[in-house]
Amino acid sequence: MFVLVNLKTYPCDPVAVADAVRDVDESTDARLAVAPQAADLARVAETGVETWAQHVDPIEHGSNTGHTLAESVADAGAVGTLINHSERRLKLADIDGSVRAAERAGLETVVCANNPEQIGAAAALGPDAVAVEPPELIGTGTPVSQADPDIVEDAVEAADNVDSEVSVLCGAGISTGDDVVAAGDLGAEGVLLASGVAKADDPQAALEDLVDPL
Ligand code: G3P
Repeated sequence: MFVLVNLKTYPCDPVAVADAVRDVDESTDARLAVAPQAADLARVAETGVETWAQHVDPIEHGSNTGHTLAESVADAGAVGTLINHSERRLKLADIDGSVRAAERAGLETVVCANNPEQIGAAAALGPDAVAVEPPELIGTGTPVSQADPDIVEDAVEAADNVDSEVSVLCGAGISTGDDVVAAGDLGAEGVLLASGVAKADDPQAALEDLVDPL
């Protein structure tokens, strides 16, 4: 299972969480990675943890102000990027452009979507993976695998119908090892989570619990 920890703009110490993710990654068969804010990418990557961006823009080098360039993200040490997170929604053409920009920079891509219909559309753009996250469950602590298991199974089917090479992650409310196992049982190849680790008093203990049953 792939466990991608999105730090959003939570007031955690990104390097401390990155150290914890790296240490737990070394003790499990699961693949762990962390997605800090763009400004923190370089110092997080320096810890040796697998580092992801939260977003890249559909742009190239040039006259763009206030944007995130995929090449800069890669230069900072990121190996992948989220695209179209529900807190950073893009128009369809811009999702496509961001996937192309990420590919150009050699970044792995996970395109997020709200529901199975959007997952099918996202998979058609050829990312490495898609992630289904019902926005109403984000940050609630109620796992999507429990509150709405059908949405995960339907997302897996929708992606598979479009492109069987595109793997499916799920997210929203995931905070325990049981939640991760349940996601895997529904066909997801990984999970996207944030508050369960970024807001935990002890992020390392939260991560250890997450991967314990894997
Ligand atoms: O990107 C992960 C996310 O949106 C889920 O957040 O806090 O419910 O794990 P959370």
